[in-house]
This record gives sequence, C-alpha cells and structure tokens, in this order.
Amino acid sequence: MDSLRDKYIDLIAAASDEATLEELRVQAVGKKGEISLEMRSLGKMSPEERQIMGPKLNALKDEINSALAAKKVALADAALNDRLAAEWLDVTLPGRGRRQGSIHPVSQVWEECTAIFADMGFAVAEGPQIEQDWYNFDALNIPGHHPARAEMDTFYMHRAEDDERPPHVLRTHTSPVQIRSMEQHGAPLRIICPGRVYRADYDQTHTPMFHQVEGLAIDKNISMANLKWVLEEFFSAYFGTQVKTRFRASHFPFTEPSAEVDIQCQWKDGSVTVGEGDDWLEVLGSGMVHPKVLEAGGIDPSQWQGFAFGMGIDRIAMLKYGIPDLRAFFDSDLRWLRNYGFAALDVPTIRGGLSR
Ligand code: PHE
Repeated sequence: MDSLRDKYIDLIAAASDEATLEELRVQAVGKKGEISLEMRSLGKMSPEERQIMGPKLNALKDEINSALAAKKVALADAALNDRLAAEWLDVTLPGRGRRQGSIHPVSQVWEECTAIFADMGFAVAEGPQIEQDWYNFDALNIPGHHPARAEMDTFYMHRAEDDERPPHVLRTHTSPVQIRSMEQHGAPLRIICPGRVYRADYDQTHTPMFHQVEGLAIDKNISMANLKWVLEEFFSAYFGTQVKTRFRASHFPFTEPSAEVDIQCQWKDGSVTVGEGDDWLEVLGSGMVHPKVLEAGGIDPSQWQGFAFGMGIDRIAMLKYGIPDLRAFFDSDLRWLRNYGFAALDVPTIRGGLSR
C-alpha cells in the first residue's frame, strides 16, 4: 500500500496539465482503478484483516483524492499567473500623442470679419459660387460689351452645343450677392457676404480661387461718410490698432462715386506691419451703390441709397498674420498649416474693441 501511495503522490506532483491529472484519477480511484480494486478485495479477507485494511485503504483513497484536488487548484493558479504575466501592461507609460488639426487662417479671418461686422449690425448673406452671368455682371451694370468682363478673367461653365442659354460663371466677386440680398429682403438692408470667388490669375498675390467679404448698407440717408466710418472701425478692431486709411478715387460700374481703399503699413525686410510707416496697401474697392444696381435689385433709387464694398479676405489675413505668399494658402502643406493654423479654441475676438 505504501508503494501504491508513493507512486500516485509522485505522479500527481509531476502532472503538468488537467488532462494528465484526470487520467491519474481514473487509474487510481476510478471504478476500475488500482485502489478501487484493492477495496474490492476486502470482501475476501478475514474480519480481523478487514478491520485493519479497511480504514487504511479509505485513508489512502482520501489522501489521493485530496492530492488530486490540491494539484488541480495549483495548475489553475499557475495558468492564471502565466496569463497575468503575459498580458501585463504598464499603465504608467505616457500615451501616444495625436496631432490636432488646425483652423486655416482664411477660416479664422472669415470668422473675425463676421464677428466685427455683426457687432456693427450687419447680417451674413450667402449666394451661389456658380452664378448666372446676369447676377455676376448685368445686374451690376456690367453689360456684355463692357471691358470689365474681360478684365475679370472669368471662368465660364461649359454649355452643351445646342444650349443657347447665357453661360453660368464661377462668380468673379461677391457683389452678385448684393443683388440677391436686395431681391430677398428689400430696403433698408445691412449685410456682409464672405465667400469664395474665382478668377483666372496666378502669381505671388493672386490665386484662381480666393476670398472676399462683400458689404452692403442701404437706407434713406447713407453717405460715403458712413462707409468711411464703418471701414475705419473695422480695421481698428481687426488689426487691434488705429489704422489710417486712404481713399483713392476709382471706378467700378456698380458704384458711383467709387473709391479704392488702402491701409497704412510698413515694409521691412520683406515683411509688413500695418498701422505704421508710410507705405499703403490696397485692400478693397468701394463706393455708393449705383442707381441702376438698386433698380436691378428691385429697390427704388429715388427713395434709397447705400454704400458697398468688397474686401480681400486672404489679403487682410496675410497682413495681420505676416504670411508672405498667397499661393501657400491653398497648397495644403501640413508644415505651413501647423505654423499658420489656429487652435480650434482661438475664438475670434474683437481686439481693441469698437468705439461708440
Ligand atoms: N466687386 C469689386 C471687386 O471684386 C469690389 C467692390 C465691391 C467694389 C463693392 C465696389 C463695391 O473688385
């Protein structure tokens, strides 16, 4: 019995998995196991022998059973330990950073313009980028033969050969939104329209797609003086410093009189600072809305008058944020975007505030 005991205790200790352990259980204490067979032989013994051997065999059976159970628990623990060791991870390691996108300077300046003009009571209007030539030209007092059409380097949309309708164009300026807003709301009116515009032109300061913000104010007694005040308020708020403006007499078919507006700046080592120095930079066209334009928009020019302006968003973005080349705006170069982009939480503010 001792050798039986030693044999199974050793085998159980050496078992390396549950399947082996189960085989040993069957071999030792299963129905036909070695110990079970020994117990069966008790019947052939004399009562005296049985009294000694019975308890011994029972004790042996119990010992083997508890050795099996203990080994089973030990194997399960070892398996768990292996898994814990294998699946270990260091929760104190720093995370892998994710790059955040940035707000494009054009979007930033677009929002800044909207915020400043909203403060002066201008609502935001929109119009289509693919425009009927009537809105882009005719309604703005630019008839078919007018040289301004050629000057604008217009992109014309393709027409099927038998399609006789006048062509659609990619709008060359945001001024068609003047007409659409007049048609929609009538007078009085006070809107800005930031948006994309298109001209076939490409160099350091021109790209085929760029951005303008149009302004239009119509009321009973609006004059050039109001235009000048609004623009100077805008520039001071936008650049956060007092900015001198220079109005130069000019010509646009849709305004009379017309003025181009320059702002004071200084060029030094290839970069520009606004609000100081004695250079001037042209940033917008403006004037009093031409009576024919009011008429085209369904507004009676004997009752109402107004001013309008169209400003280059990209240009004033370059000026405020010191960006030298316009073409880089639309190259989608990540290094450029990370350098000149804004964090999403750089909410536009009216720096310097508005004087009232
Ligand atoms: N539409 C003109 C341009 O694109 C700008 C302008 C707008 C001029 C409104 C006068 C009035 O150059």
